[in-house]
Amino acid sequence: MNQVYQKVSECYDSIKDKIPFVPKVALVLGSGLGNYADTMEIKAEISYSEIKNFPVSTVPGHEGKFIFGYVRKVPVVCMKGRVHYYEGYPITDVVLPARLMKMMGAEILFLTNASGGINQEFGAGSFMLITDHISCFAPNPLIGQNIDELGCRFPDMSKIYDPELNQIIRDTAKEFGIPLKEGVYVQLTGPSFESPAEIRMLKTLGADAVGMSTVVEAIAANHMGMRICGISCVANLAAGMTDQPLTHDEVQEAANKAAPLFQKLITESISAF
Ligand code: HPA
Repeated sequence: MNQVYQKVSECYDSIKDKIPFVPKVALVLGSGLGNYADTMEIKAEISYSEIKNFPVSTVPGHEGKFIFGYVRKVPVVCMKGRVHYYEGYPITDVVLPARLMKMMGAEILFLTNASGGINQEFGAGSFMLITDHISCFAPNPLIGQNIDELGCRFPDMSKIYDPELNQIIRDTAKEFGIPLKEGVYVQLTGPSFESPAEIRMLKTLGADAVGMSTVVEAIAANHMGMRICGISCVANLAAGMTDQPLTHDEVQEAANKAAPLFQKLITESISAF
């Protein structure tokens, strides 16, 4: 068996009897959204460290566990804490959780993150519906022998972010009076923030917001035929757009501040899926 697939399968085998819960939606919680599960009707939890061979995140503020429960009537598995490429894991480990959640039964992958705003119209605290993405220097997670059990060698990427889910999120934002921007998210590897010249480059490439996650997870989920949507919380203006230096604390603080509204948008969107 393909070794990457074997590793995901072993993770699944080590938890499947403990968690008799079939999620419809897999929700990845970005910075600031860590406490989202407090709003759910929780049925079970499992720490990443309890899952054999599972990559465990090392970033402060990214505590690692799967939380299973209901958002209104929708069965959801939440990822509290994700693994980033800059932590030193192989890219196949970074996308392992997305593959595992598909194996658990999730049909929809809802990605969230905190980002730096490149588009001049975006202030700190804006929400951006991710309508497309650019991968910049992060390796493609599908490199290597194709995992035929999951998907085909050359997956189409023309509609990565599901148009119907996007419309539900737009309609939800409108209904609840939550301002929602839209745009293209670019993933770089991090962990250093970008230089001002890199931000100018990314702007020229067509990116509206920049971060260090999400794109590789979307590529792996798209390969498996999951329906994908994503919202980015713009935590700061990108490097060079203000005189201020960027810090992780500032990102965390802005994301925490935006969290109540972000939670509302996610809950109401998921219950309309
Ligand atoms: N750059 C990259 N990642 C980020 C940023 C940023 O400015 N803000 C939050 N995550």
